[in-house]
Amino acid sequence: MKNILITGGTGLIGMELSKKLKSKGYSVAHLSRRANKQATFPAYKWDINAQTIEEEAVEWADAIIHLAGASLVDKRWSDAYKKVMIDSRTKSLALLHKYIKLRSRPLKTLVSASAIGYYGEGGNQWLDERSPPQPGDFKSDCCVLWEDAAKALKPDVSRLAILRVGIVLSTKGGALEKMALSFKARVGSYFGDGSAYSPWIHIDDMCRMFIHAVEEDHVEGIYNGVAPKPVTNKEFIETIPNALGVKALIVPTPTIAIKLAMGEMSTVVLHSVRVSAQKILDTGFVFEHGELLGALEDIFKNKR
Ligand SMILES: NC(=O)c1ccc[n+]([C@@H]2O[C@H](COP(=O)([O-])OP(=O)(O)OC[C@H]3O[C@@H](n4cnc5c(N)ncnc54)[C@H](OP(=O)(O)O)[C@@H]3O)[C@@H](O)[C@H]2O)c1
Repeated sequence: MKNILITGGTGLIGMELSKKLKSKGYSVAHLSRRANKQATFPAYKWDINAQTIEEEAVEWADAIIHLAGASLVDKRWSDAYKKVMIDSRTKSLALLHKYIKLRSRPLKTLVSASAIGYYGEGGNQWLDERSPPQPGDFKSDCCVLWEDAAKALKPDVSRLAILRVGIVLSTKGGALEKMALSFKARVGSYFGDGSAYSPWIHIDDMCRMFIHAVEEDHVEGIYNGVAPKPVTNKEFIETIPNALGVKALIVPTPTIAIKLAMGEMSTVVLHSVRVSAQKILDTGFVFEHGELLGALEDIFKNKR
């Protein structure tokens, strides 16, 4: 297996994953809404609404990693934007399916992202891959549709793995970049009473887990993409200044203020998701960053 095609490869996880794959000797190309053949990782164009892909990209691939999807936190969740968030994940998979069927040889491996939003609000309970979704919670409904769309490709793909991605730690984007901003002013804030669990994962471990799923034939089905020790939101926020080596004032932001500011999207930060990493550990995956403090120190020190 040599050629890896990544949808949404230009994003936070995709760029880091592409670099790691390249350093391991893989050839990497991206499927993007904008073609860019001159890029370090050549980007082939796909158009999800028109249901077209530059065909040679799908033919070229030995494995496909599906990361594409409109951000869940960049815009308010209007009905129109909810459709964009779902379609960018599901219609894109249907489009891949159409082109996979046209290939001259079968596709060996498809690894698709999903998200820990699948579980909705979980309180203190440990959640594993068999825990049910929460119908009516938008992010849970979106993940169910996303995973169902991936499973629909199963007849035409030898092996399908789905990783339910947690909060990916990086200074280059995502939740941590936003949370760390306020610490420049030596102030931080947790949400509500801070008791909600935040299932984090270092970006390097997230990328290594995608590579593990590509390389290991026994990795099949659904896995949580989180570090083994989720912490509460209060503990998470309190660990940031420790990792930065600064003192900071940490105060709560009342739940009502978050709901007023973010609307339905507030569930992304307010829901408690205490997710187990046992299933991926059982496949032989070894985390390099299993403790939050060490993971954050590495992220900030090495500008990961
Ligand atoms: N980062 C996290 O903490 C986290 C947590 C849970 C789940 N996830 C999921 O993991 C996947 C990758 O995460 P990420 O952080 O790398 O995401 P990201 O930085 O937002 O990148 C996603 C990529 O998807 C493509 N995309 C964006 N809007 C699109 C649209 N409307 N239609 C089609 N493609 C679109 C873009 O590629 P082009 O511009 O090249 O088309 C973009 O680079 C996403 O599906 C995300 O929901 C991430």
